[in-house]
Amino acid sequence: MLNLTSDDISFDEFDDINNPQNEATDFERVTASVMSRRGFLGRGIAFGATALVMGTTSLTARPTQAASRLGFEQVVANSLDTVTVPNGYSWQVVSMWGDPLWSKSIAFDQATRGTAASQELAVGDNNDGMAVFQDGTKVILASNNEYVNRSIIYGNRETKLPENADDVRKGMAGHGITIAEIVSEGGTWKIAKDSPYNRRITANTSIDIAGPARGHDLLKTAADPKGVLAQGTWNNCGNGRTPWGTYLTCEENFNGYFSSSDESYKPSAALKRYGVGNKDWGYGWATVEERFDISKNPTEPNRFGYIVEIDPLDPKSTPKKRTALGRFKHENAELVVADNGQIVVYMGDDERGEFMYRYVSNGKFVEGGDNSKLLDEGTLYVAKFSNDMKGEWRALTPDTTGMKSLAEISILTRQAGSAVGATTMDRPEWITSHPGKAEIYVALTNNKNRGKKPNNGGDETPVGGPNPRAGNNYGQVVRWRPENGDHTAKGFEWDLFVVAGNPTVHKDAYGGSKNVNADNMFNSPDGMAFDSTGLLWILTDGKYSNKDDFAGMGNNQMLVGDPDTGEIRRFMVGPKECEVTGITWSPDRKALFVGIQHPGEKGDSHYPQGGKTVPRSTIISITRDDGGIMG
Ligand code: FEO
Ligand code: CA
Ligand code: CA
Ligand code: CA
Repeated sequence: MLNLTSDDISFDEFDDINNPQNEATDFERVTASVMSRRGFLGRGIAFGATALVMGTTSLTARPTQAASRLGFEQVVANSLDTVTVPNGYSWQVVSMWGDPLWSKSIAFDQATRGTAASQELAVGDNNDGMAVFQDGTKVILASNNEYVNRSIIYGNRETKLPENADDVRKGMAGHGITIAEIVSEGGTWKIAKDSPYNRRITANTSIDIAGPARGHDLLKTAADPKGVLAQGTWNNCGNGRTPWGTYLTCEENFNGYFSSSDESYKPSAALKRYGVGNKDWGYGWATVEERFDISKNPTEPNRFGYIVEIDPLDPKSTPKKRTALGRFKHENAELVVADNGQIVVYMGDDERGEFMYRYVSNGKFVEGGDNSKLLDEGTLYVAKFSNDMKGEWRALTPDTTGMKSLAEISILTRQAGSAVGATTMDRPEWITSHPGKAEIYVALTNNKNRGKKPNNGGDETPVGGPNPRAGNNYGQVVRWRPENGDHTAKGFEWDLFVVAGNPTVHKDAYGGSKNVNADNMFNSPDGMAFDSTGLLWILTDGKYSNKDDFAGMGNNQMLVGDPDTGEIRRFMVGPKECEVTGITWSPDRKALFVGIQHPGEKGDSHYPQGGKTVPRSTIISITRDDGGIMG
């Protein structure tokens, strides 16, 4: 029996309930560790020392107003049900969940919130990562639709849950990717209905399995005995893009869609490591497609948790799961071309105590050449950080992991990372690379289990290195510089760009680093991207209670940081109960596209249409009133 819930609690909360992690470890040891770190990390001491290692004063001195590169007036934290941008800037809606992509589509219905048929022809829900592509003068926006909010999409139902097969299929169609041509009319960007580029990719789109895991026994199912063609992609979180013009979409919490009709079924340890259990998270997909029933199809979950490559300019193309990039809860994929031409992809596994990865291609990128194997043939590495501000990438090979093949490493990547002693991280979210130098930034969003519980594989999560606080509810941004500026090098040096916190509540390390103050404080950095001028945009997915530990932070928001000075200013505040996620620019850089995800996830928002309307995830554009570029 499926055990459904209507509570729109977070993925993590749901995972915790259904897959409780191992019990707390030695309390005495953890407390001692926290206390010693607190002494070592007193505000301004260790963070200052950290900055010195990197040869920058970023966290030791606050820049003067005159020297600031952040040319806007900081937005004050608020809990309004709208988007707030600085004076001199404006925002507009580009698209909303349920907007028609074709003339034949059915307009969004406020009462029913749509059907399976209408959703298949409309913009998906919960937009997340996105990227803009060009085909001549045409502008195409590819955006992820991470998941659906059960209480919203099924808000017409008493139970706030899917109540029949059409409801379930509506949910499936709300997931995936939306590709749409967009046009600017008088400075306002809108979807071009009926454009030949428009496409929906959902939980039912056929997707080739490419790379080392293609055809492996662990990927074979009754419906696909060769293990080469998966059905669908879902929980598409962050994104990436390649220099050959394709879109990368990243499968994150793929586990929450599987369940078992046999309550006594015992999922394997391999499934448990990925959080796959006998209960789904309220989506009910196994009620309409047996492949989601793990007691009958135990290998089906092995076909998800990958990075999928899509050609956004060819709506007939079959997307490819690039298994060489590993299987885990992929956040985003930051791709850089190393000086020697090899492709390097930085990736995080967003789960408490999981790891950070790097992929290095065997071959080299050739502009206009055949780059089709670059994401299939290469080596996956996992990050090991040391307390001395250094770190190294450890290769995941049959030799280093003791696993049988690259295929197995590509499917059971978390286990491979554990085998080589990777560093357990505070939930790696987006990774972004500085446009002007070899310096990479990762948002570690938060980790309440730091120093308290091991990860699902039993790896300890000691306080230390880039994860400096026990019970970390605020998060931090870590950055590193590869040895000799070479993205393929084994070693790197790291430091902390910002440690989020609340200096009005805490005087210790939970008050944050020196570049956090009462006016710009935030929690849970998540989305991140550099603009073309080398400023770092930080998007948050945190607590919006605006009280206690989070007092004064208001709704989720977007900030801008200067990597050279450490200065951070709040640029935008989102509406109630939203997360701000997904960021990209128009080709002329005059419009910044940002995602407002799950406004009203707990029931208290009518954004963006107001009145009594259903809250809807949106992509908005932000422009300067003077027509200047947005970075
Ligand atoms: Fe979908 Fe880790 O955020
Ligand atoms: Ca995220
Ligand atoms: Ca998040
Ligand atoms: Ca999210």
